[in-house]
Amino acid sequence: MKVMVTGGAGYIGSHVVKALLGSGYEVLVLDNLDKGHREAVVGGDFIEGDLADKELLDDIFSGHDIEGVIHLAAHSLVGESMEDPGKYYDNNVSRGLNLLEAMINNEVEYMVFSSTAAVYGEPEEIPITEEHPLQPTSVYGESKLFYEKILKRYDQIHGLQYTSLRYFNAAGADPRGEIGEAHEPETHLIPIVLQTVLGKRDELYIFGDDYPTRDGTCIRDYIHVNDLARCHILALEALIEGMPSRIYNLGNGEGYSVREVIKTAEKVTGQKIDAKIGKRRPGDPAALVASAEKAKEELDWKPEYPDLESIIESAWNWHSSGGFS
Ligand code: UFG
Repeated sequence: MKVMVTGGAGYIGSHVVKALLGSGYEVLVLDNLDKGHREAVVGGDFIEGDLADKELLDDIFSGHDIEGVIHLAAHSLVGESMEDPGKYYDNNVSRGLNLLEAMINNEVEYMVFSSTAAVYGEPEEIPITEEHPLQPTSVYGESKLFYEKILKRYDQIHGLQYTSLRYFNAAGADPRGEIGEAHEPETHLIPIVLQTVLGKRDELYIFGDDYPTRDGTCIRDYIHVNDLARCHILALEALIEGMPSRIYNLGNGEGYSVREVIKTAEKVTGQKIDAKIGKRRPGDPAALVASAEKAKEELDWKPEYPDLESIIESAWNWHSSGGFS
């Protein structure tokens, strides 16, 4: 069975591709390589192209027997989305719509969509369930929410079956060290901490220590990228077996503060890590922790890396061996 993965050369996408290949699927990756890395795609067919190209999309669907699409291609920086909203609405909504139209025109019925905890905005209660109010505070989160709404309508009107996976903080790397996280510029906490240890960065800042949390720093729910990846396959298989469209949170249900992440990284790397206290980063909620019970129950999904130490260990293994460079 052939599965198309948009954004398959990106951090999460490349781990999804590897997991699909490992489960015996044929894979076709579509990625414009704007942020992705060609070498991150460890197998399958690769097409360099953009979702803006409607003709290409039609060619792909008419030329390949694609059973379902895992759609990860998107811009994903909260800060950038607040400076250049048009870029986010265009890429994450309009171009994504081209993909849906091409799927409908070619009778491809199943989509697993890469959504985000950012659809919830500032949480009213922790842990966050899928029923939590949807009040995104960033254009990024809103663009993903718009797409979820479009998916709902395409289900009602065209019979498209979808699963939307709202990720919390994806982290870690392929345990075999073949692929990992390599953003340019890097904005995420764990790679920044590890790059500091490796001397690739001069300074590490904690963005605020006056939040109403146990140690004053922000709390996040870190989930191993391979656990995320496996859930995409479970979601796709459930759709194919006839499960109706659904939405799931994906996290471990356990929150760690920025200080706890740094402390765990010290343990994993065996090095003392100096961090300065900086200003709060605009738009950062104090705490984001998932309730992932629904995915666990309905998809029979169980994280294999539920603890922060093993997540950071896999990331350290990747970063300390040089990454893609
Ligand atoms: N942080 C620091 N110093 C840094 C980098 C991050 O203190 O140098 C802090 C942040 O303020 C935040 C925490 O570390 O409290 C985690 O930050 P990340 O940038 O790693 O992750 P975010 O929680 O900001 O982002 C994640 C996803 C986004 C998604 C967002 C939704 O990576 O894609 O959650 O809120 F949009």
